[in-house]
Amino acid sequence: MRKALVVGNWKMNGTQSSIDVLMHGLMAQLAGCSSGIVVCPPNVYLDQVRKLIEQTPISVGGQNLDWHDKGAFTGEVSAEMLADLGCDFVLVGHSERRTLFGETNEDVAMKCKASLSKGIIPILCVGETQAQREAGETEDVIASQLVPVFDKLGTEAMASVVIAYEPVWAIGTGITASPQQANDVHAFIRHTLAEKDLNIANNIQILYGGSVNADNAGELFGMQDIDGALVGGASLDAASFLAICQAAVLV
Ligand code: PGA
Repeated sequence: MRKALVVGNWKMNGTQSSIDVLMHGLMAQLAGCSSGIVVCPPNVYLDQVRKLIEQTPISVGGQNLDWHDKGAFTGEVSAEMLADLGCDFVLVGHSERRTLFGETNEDVAMKCKASLSKGIIPILCVGETQAQREAGETEDVIASQLVPVFDKLGTEAMASVVIAYEPVWAIGTGITASPQQANDVHAFIRHTLAEKDLNIANNIQILYGGSVNADNAGELFGMQDIDGALVGGASLDAASFLAICQAAVLV
């Protein structure tokens, strides 16, 4: 039985004071949440959040990392640094990283490997654009994003990875994939993995991301292959994020 997981991706938002308000709002109402909960603040606020979540079931994650161990990479942050700041998770290959910062599938695979080497669970983000969907290329695109990671990590290590399916056309647009559309891709991902290892495929958590909110979360979580959510905009509001966490009960 897979456990539900809800991850908040704050992107480049927040200040010390707004984060304080958000986190206290969240921590005050955790009672009805049975899913795992992760928040991914900007790096400069990781330590602030880490201190706030001590004694709570909330985990903290990074939004990105550099795969090098250390050295002359101005502005970058390594897996070891994220681990040092208490991160249990890190987002890898978010579509904004791929499109705005030119991350390749090879970079993404290296980042997953680096994060696992420091005991951090990579949340591997995959997803197709609107044009790719319309051209009938969704499964090919998803496979092309997954296979380099499988090859780099080896099948066994996939047991320690979380996958997030985020159709690019649904991110920040208010347009959510229908539960069936999302589930079809999740099932494809699971099937792709099952060709390598059935047990890992059955146990891996596959999250859906793209305009998840308090109103649509329940229906998404009701689908067989959807194990949780990667939430952007709605994770910046304590009440909305909590409502999504409360809806995350897998049947
Ligand atoms: P959104 O973002 O929920 O605002 O669409 C999701 C994400 O980018 O992870």
